[in-house]
Amino acid sequence: MEAIQLQTTQWAGLHSRANFTLTQIDVDSRSMEEDVIAGLKTIPKTISPKYFYDEEGSRLFDQICELPEYYPTRTETSILERHAHAILDRLGRDLCVIELGAGACHKGRLLLETGKVSSFIPVDISTEYLRSQALRVARGFPDVSVHAVGMDFVVSLDSLESFLPEVGRRVIFYAGSSIGNFDPPDACRLLRQFHELLRKDDALLIGYDLKKDPNLLHQAYNDSEGVTAAFNLNLLARFNRELKADFDVKAFRHVARYDEARGRVEMHLESLSAQEVRIANERVRFDKFERTHTESSYKYSVDEFDGVAAGAGFDSVGVWTDPAAYFAVALYARREFRQ
Ligand code: AVJ
Repeated sequence: MEAIQLQTTQWAGLHSRANFTLTQIDVDSRSMEEDVIAGLKTIPKTISPKYFYDEEGSRLFDQICELPEYYPTRTETSILERHAHAILDRLGRDLCVIELGAGACHKGRLLLETGKVSSFIPVDISTEYLRSQALRVARGFPDVSVHAVGMDFVVSLDSLESFLPEVGRRVIFYAGSSIGNFDPPDACRLLRQFHELLRKDDALLIGYDLKKDPNLLHQAYNDSEGVTAAFNLNLLARFNRELKADFDVKAFRHVARYDEARGRVEMHLESLSAQEVRIANERVRFDKFERTHTESSYKYSVDEFDGVAAGAGFDSVGVWTDPAAYFAVALYARREFRQ
């Protein structure tokens, strides 16, 4: 593992204190090419949802968040706008907030506005986007020290330790129901990694999507403007751009359906004909109507999610939802594992 200090900018000249650094940490992981080819050789074929988010995919995702049918983003934001003070009141002051998958830092800002946070560590896989957004946060909150870290935190969180202050309670903030992309055992493993970065009395604040009327779920992932379809199909266009692949994007269609038994929305790309596609130096065959699984988005009840968190060593402190109970923001305390 190699850490590269990309840029350390001290804004002492602009503000009363130096309050911004940016670091990129490259963690060893399989390349996109190897990973995608391996996934297309399994039965059923699968592609990791982490590849949705190139520049075009991130733009499409931002558009999804604005769709009338896609309720999660605006619902979570309304919960935080309404309850951020009450949530952080449970934890005290001088908090260190570590926002994982921070992106534009919109949700982190809602926590900083409470005035209870003294250091903010936004972490995102896209260093460039993070740089501009986190710098704006640093300028807007001159009393908060902002250390932005560009890295794939799903691979490892160990290297974050060096950015965390000795004093002040740590709060890992994982918003947006991103945890829903993981199968429950993997979600539990990720929460265990969070647990390792925390100390006694530290906390986890996490947003997850609640079980609800399947029709609403269907609409949220099959929007009338076709933005979600474009987001899903962009995977293939991205592989054409970056992996020397020759997908005929029009020969595939977006499929999203709620599997009630598993409690998850599944997205697939369905091949409209029998076809062969080249990716780098490999050839992959698709049968007519064969589906490639591109994303799972798990929906939980509060008890179910508390169970996943308990398995990773977290005890529920409180949970906040919207009036329609579409979405939940839950606060957990790190429990010491007992033998
Ligand atoms: C960013 C993973 C929370 O699962 O709802 C949106 C991604 N996929 N529409 C989700 C997504 C299709 C989103 N997460």
